[in-house]
Amino acid sequence: MSRPATAPAAPSIESTGLVLSAVRKQYTVGPVTTEILKGVDLGVRQGDSLAIMGGSGSGKSTLMNIMGLMDRPSSGSCLLGDRDLLRMDDDERSDLRNRRMGFIFQAFHLLPHLSAWRNVALPLVYRGVSVLEARRLAVEMLERVEMGDRVDHRPSQLSGGQQQRVGIARALIGRPAIVFADEPTAALDRDTGCEIMDQLLRLNSEEGITLVIVTHDRGVARQCSRLVRLENGVIEESAPAPAGPPGGAPG
Ligand SMILES: Nc1ncnc2c1ncn2[C@@H]1O[C@H](COP(=O)(O)OP(=O)(O)OP(=O)(O)O)[C@@H](O)[C@H]1O
Ligand SMILES: [Mg+2]
Repeated sequence: MSRPATAPAAPSIESTGLVLSAVRKQYTVGPVTTEILKGVDLGVRQGDSLAIMGGSGSGKSTLMNIMGLMDRPSSGSCLLGDRDLLRMDDDERSDLRNRRMGFIFQAFHLLPHLSAWRNVALPLVYRGVSVLEARRLAVEMLERVEMGDRVDHRPSQLSGGQQQRVGIARALIGRPAIVFADEPTAALDRDTGCEIMDQLLRLNSEEGITLVIVTHDRGVARQCSRLVRLENGVIEESAPAPAGPPGGAPG
């Protein structure tokens, strides 16, 4: 990823980071209640690149959705610095999500009828930035992920790797402190997945953006500075990954 000379320092998450304690989540479908998270304790510090692994259905996406303020736990606490995320109302949570967090999804989740730049610009438009200014910033961001020659393409006119670059640009346009990526390389071939991971890790090491990545891929997890596993509804922290990138905090 090319970095503009004027790239500002990454905004920080609060110095104490994002701290989840005793987080539980249960779902009730018909007569059956299933507890997916059974008391998750997990801290994410500024500058971490944290990989979350665990079997399919273990609750990784559920956990990430709670950390990313897209869902609420059944009980437990989630603190960002001294702010209690669970006491915030939905408007405050949306605002915090929009201003401090970026999201990257396995299936890209781009809006099919919008061009690349309009997809990237959306978070800014939600903030009330003018379309002209949002376009300028979106094109700049697309150039940073080497998509400057595809700004008017719609998702169906792009390859999977290119769509994920657009997804990264959209996640970054609001200058988030923390980026959540749920299996960002799972829909991509190996080489393209490696390129996407390189971009994400460079954001972490060069710009200090905190990264949380859910992955099934050991190779991806090994590149992160911390690795945890979600098993039976709780978090197990593994030893720090041996070949983590420079700049990541030790686990
Ligand atoms: N909205 C929901 N209502 C009921 N059950 C749900 C809901 N969302 C998730 N679940 C259940 O919670 C469990 C965990 O789902 P989750 O998507 O978090 O798993 P995951 O670890 O991300 O799996 P994968 O690796 O396959 O993506 C699953 O058994 C799923 O059926
Ligand atoms: Mg999942």
